[in-house]
Amino acid sequence: MPDRKPARPFRSREWFAAPERSDMTALYLERFMNYGITPEELQSGRPIVGIAQTGSDLSPCNRIHLDLARRVRDGIRDAGGVPMEFPVHPIFENCRRPTAALDRNLAYLGLTEILYGYPIDAVVLTTGCDKTTPSGVMAASTVDIPAIVLSGGPMLDGWHEGELVGSGTVIWRSRRKLAAGEIDEAEFLRRATASAPSAGHCNTMGTASTMNAVAEALGLSLPGCAAIPAPYRERGQMAYETGRRIVDMAYEDLRPSKILTRAAFLNAIKVVSAAGGSSNAQPHIVAMARHAGVELSPEDWMAHGYDVPLIVNMQPAGKYLGERFHRAGGVPAVMWELLRAGQLDGGCLTVTGRTLAENLEGREASDREVITPYDQPLKERAGFLVLKGNLFDFAIMKTSVISEEFRARYLAEPGREGVFEARAVVFDGSGDYHHRINDPALDIDERTILVIRGSGPLGWPGSAEVVNMQPPDALIQRGISSLPTLGDGRQSGTSDSPSILNASPESAAGGGLSWLRTGDVIRIDLNTGRCDALVDEAEIARRKAEAPPPVPESRTPWEELYREKTGQLAEGAVLEMAVKYRGVSAKTPRH
Ligand code: FES
Ligand code: MG
Repeated sequence: MPDRKPARPFRSREWFAAPERSDMTALYLERFMNYGITPEELQSGRPIVGIAQTGSDLSPCNRIHLDLARRVRDGIRDAGGVPMEFPVHPIFENCRRPTAALDRNLAYLGLTEILYGYPIDAVVLTTGCDKTTPSGVMAASTVDIPAIVLSGGPMLDGWHEGELVGSGTVIWRSRRKLAAGEIDEAEFLRRATASAPSAGHCNTMGTASTMNAVAEALGLSLPGCAAIPAPYRERGQMAYETGRRIVDMAYEDLRPSKILTRAAFLNAIKVVSAAGGSSNAQPHIVAMARHAGVELSPEDWMAHGYDVPLIVNMQPAGKYLGERFHRAGGVPAVMWELLRAGQLDGGCLTVTGRTLAENLEGREASDREVITPYDQPLKERAGFLVLKGNLFDFAIMKTSVISEEFRARYLAEPGREGVFEARAVVFDGSGDYHHRINDPALDIDERTILVIRGSGPLGWPGSAEVVNMQPPDALIQRGISSLPTLGDGRQSGTSDSPSILNASPESAAGGGLSWLRTGDVIRIDLNTGRCDALVDEAEIARRKAEAPPPVPESRTPWEELYREKTGQLAEGAVLEMAVKYRGVSAKTPRH
């Protein structure tokens, strides 16, 4: 195997086999020996393959990777590589305060430095929980060494009293039941725990499953990788095959820059729409595209994603969970439908070394209840609707989760279909919302739109999943389970709320939400994509001259740095100075 010639000399040779600096080479080699690696292995000319380990006790969604890494190593060894596993900054969506969104750019930074500064020729990116996928892909683009994504897979399906209960979605639905007095706290906890029956990430089409589907759609995973549930035998087998394949990719010099084209990103947008994927896909896809040097405009989401129908019947937009989705054929079966309908660019190169169309041969869905034919969808036009107006330049609405009840109440007035007006009740962050939502003085009824600000990248900081605000208990008890909501934060990908979110610029950056007041009327027109507060210019100018809403202080050095360097959700909330660094592995770091 060492006689195989790489398409481009392995960068690890500069560390371990540089003839002109044998003194340095000895230094680089010696400490690896203390756990039994031989100089011969490191000097054999084989690729050193990193395993970017995102699993830990602090990252339970990805913890399966601690076990899977063994199979990845087996694959790397069998194919002639030398594996080296290393930790990535943990990311855990549910538990990280003030929000895990701070971690995406931090993990990105850390991983970039590791991949650049150590003798690594290629890398397996282990992914799972929401932001572990985009942070890994972003770093792989910045460094541009061969990289392959290995999802840890979703948890098994959750069941409670004969009913499917899915990650996150069960929380939002049970909160409404709790508010309506239909269940008590103990039952709430039983339902929540029932939704998490095994190792793995969220089993709904939340942000984790969406982002792993996106990685596969981009061509960065082996076909079928994204959806295999974590405990299934196929998951270990996929880990092994992924380990094998990355060694060949190292020899072929198959780098992210050859895979991550604009066409690949447009394919990914379509897959998100067809799957009823998370609204967090928007900032993450934009972030990955920007780090890959690909331009995606707000119009691209409408032009390429909006008209795509919903064909995946998975919570929160549909009924089922990850196991059924995997058995139905997973991401390749969804892409097979899209490709046949002329919706995908099948010519995109993938980590297999083959095109997308070649990978998809014979991948038709086996369960039409879960993945429908393209022309018999669950919903027409299921993509993100892009909105703008005097409150923001950009926001999105996830149309696949607009319920019939919501449509009938707000969007079906004869002659004014898709248009509604509502009175704003404005909250400064989620603390304010929780404190006041049940206050009768707010006079919240079905003609109210709940607005939250101070929840974007700078305001929170990090941008929080808080826009899917629940109506006051009294309204829920009257059978009104959702109100229109709007905010400069995000919402959980597992939420079934048709919120207007990711509003950019956010209030803390001087966006229109900063001058909005409780009592203002907001008009939303889904036909034209407008969302405006009906407040005249003079009044807006007067309010802008007043003190802006409060923004909490930074509590850690990273929060401060994050706020200094991070842009808005419309632009992916990336570290703006970072996107100019691309392909940095072309130059080896100095001794
Ligand atoms: Fe980690 Fe959903 S909370 S995957
Ligand atoms: Mg989330």
